Amino acid sequence: MITVLDNLFLLETENSSYQMKVGAQGLLMHVWYGARTGQPMDYLNQTIDFGFSGQVYEDQFDRTISPDTMMLEYPCEGIGDYRITAAKVEGAYGLDLRYAGYEIGQGEYEVTGLPHVRGNLEQLTIHLKDEVHQIQADLVYLVDVQNDAIIRNVVFTNTLSKPVKLERSFSMALDLPTSDQTELISFPGSHNKERLLTRQPLNQNIVTFSSKRGTSSHQQNPALVICDKATTEETGEAYGVLFVYSGSFKIEVEKDQTTQTRILCGVNPEVTCWTLDPNVPFETPQTILFYSDQGLGQLSRNSHNLIRQRILPKNDYHPILINTWEAVYFDFDRQKLLAIADEAAKLDVDLYVMDDGWFGARNSDLAGLGDWTPNEEKLGGTLGSLIEEINAKGLDFGIWIEPEMVNKNSDLFRAHPDWALIAPNRKPAISRGQMVLDLCNPEVVDYLETCFTNLLGSSNIRYVKWDMNRSLADLYSSVLPEERQEEVSHRYMLGVYDLLGRLTSKFPNILFEGCSGGGGRFDAGMLFYTPQIWCSDDTDVHERSKIQYGTSFFYPPCTMGAHVSEVPNHQTGRTASLDARAVMAMAGTYGYELDLGKLNEQDQEEIRTLNAKFREIQPLVLEGDYTRLSAPENGLVLTQFTDPNQDRILVSGILYETRPTTMPRRIRLQNLDPNARYQNKEGQIFTGQALMKGGLVLEKTTGTDCPIFIELQKGVEE
Ligand code: GLA
Repeated sequence: MITVLDNLFLLETENSSYQMKVGAQGLLMHVWYGARTGQPMDYLNQTIDFGFSGQVYEDQFDRTISPDTMMLEYPCEGIGDYRITAAKVEGAYGLDLRYAGYEIGQGEYEVTGLPHVRGNLEQLTIHLKDEVHQIQADLVYLVDVQNDAIIRNVVFTNTLSKPVKLERSFSMALDLPTSDQTELISFPGSHNKERLLTRQPLNQNIVTFSSKRGTSSHQQNPALVICDKATTEETGEAYGVLFVYSGSFKIEVEKDQTTQTRILCGVNPEVTCWTLDPNVPFETPQTILFYSDQGLGQLSRNSHNLIRQRILPKNDYHPILINTWEAVYFDFDRQKLLAIADEAAKLDVDLYVMDDGWFGARNSDLAGLGDWTPNEEKLGGTLGSLIEEINAKGLDFGIWIEPEMVNKNSDLFRAHPDWALIAPNRKPAISRGQMVLDLCNPEVVDYLETCFTNLLGSSNIRYVKWDMNRSLADLYSSVLPEERQEEVSHRYMLGVYDLLGRLTSKFPNILFEGCSGGGGRFDAGMLFYTPQIWCSDDTDVHERSKIQYGTSFFYPPCTMGAHVSEVPNHQTGRTASLDARAVMAMAGTYGYELDLGKLNEQDQEEIRTLNAKFREIQPLVLEGDYTRLSAPENGLVLTQFTDPNQDRILVSGILYETRPTTMPRRIRLQNLDPNARYQNKEGQIFTGQALMKGGLVLEKTTGTDCPIFIELQKGVEE
């Protein structure tokens, strides 16, 4: 709900309140973001005189009022606020944005050319204006009442008659009072080690979480939690910041001299500087803010619900798939492909995905990207005939593509060398033998649209794995003038989204799965187009449990591409039981990435049983409430899936190792109906209260990476 009381703006969700106020000189002050209190909270905004914190001209006789110490809603560079600031224009002197009015609306708010939060939401737009620069910043707020979320972005307009460079244009700033107990949770990693949760104290300092790789990246994720040292899964306050963007980003946090903390989130200004042409608005991507006073678990559930309801595209297709990559890599022919399909069909798999290597001269990663013509010699005939044969076995067909890339050794690059991002008079940086196509160039986007429309429209393709296997360098586009070259990083993303938008709307029945060397572009921006994303190339049970654990802080399990792969694992060399691998993959989209034909009969039989089991529990994974019961540091990663009526519960996870002479572990469940009775598969009955206060006893297991999979059904109420 949005209320305006004189000069105070109140945005209220079910459990949170966000408040701002227009100060005496038209500076927009941040007042409060936290629990819903039922009243304006501006009585808290006390200020004192801090040395070396000056005043804006009009306030010069009151030294307690300083832009350097006030909580500001959208702080800009150069007006005496020496903290990190959200916006800056080129040149030495400042951007002084003052209040110039507001509007309230309701409806679907689209951010032009960018992924965004869907649906009918209440909107508040606050206009800020710099009278000297004639730059207007419209701060847009959407209120998602149910999911306790505030969605923010900014629209910049230049009303001068000449262009102005925006050197920094963050999507939001948030000033919060913090303490020496405040902590940050972020999700750093690398290829094969994505989103490994890190929790760190916050000192008087500036901390940056960012990517300038042209993707949201394996190394950092555009998401952050700010909470108290004492905040747990079930208790305490937590704020979440989630950026709806897949390119180079920056989240910056500064705890200042007053112990207040400022958080900025936006497109990374280190690689983007936007030229604002007169009267051509520039829209920043959205940032979603979450607040929970019931711990991290509730914060995650709010984010999961918002993503499922308002970010993901509509999709009713949730197949169990087999992917050929780790089974054959580039080394296959029709016979090998069909042998895998035969096994998959026998074992009740739904979808067959032919991964990399099916096109052009693609027999290694050094050639072929860009030449999206099926290699009929390798496929032993046309792609259409292969698909028909696979369909005839009762399997749907899916295909791997990497549209944004080109190998030097490709017909496409030979024909259009200027279609790759290459700086003049320089040799381009190469990664995995490939270069990045210039998606700032509309001709390239059109070409790719035609190319993939032909491919996807020509045969019965039900699924596409959209990969992206390198970071951007050489940020130079042959179609942009010199003065706009610093826009390449963001324009590239606009091109990617444009292409994704065109192809996903042309083929609404195709399920698109995102991928970037595993989970190098796992973010809310990509999820707007691809309802699932390959979580990591690392499918080792032990490592995956940590990756999926970190991923779960913002992203729901239905988005996590997860497969059972071969042992010893191709990334780590570790061996885990089939059950353990299946338990981990069943906490995501589920599928296989191995040569099923190599399995012994017993394992094959088990796969049939596992597939049936997954279909049974799939609704819980897709729609259930997700609760983390135990974290990797406890040697036990355990998750509780609860269906919306709390009728069915699944507790699943991995116990890393058993120790000699230890009592079996107990684990307490959460969010159950205390008075209901729950029955396990063995017929034991527990009250909800018993499960939440006493817990379940985990069966004593031996060995390492032991699977846990406990199902409970709600019975008769007392
Ligand atoms: C990336 C993906 C893999 C596979 C290969 C193919 O690394 O993450 O799953 O598709 O590309 O080249």
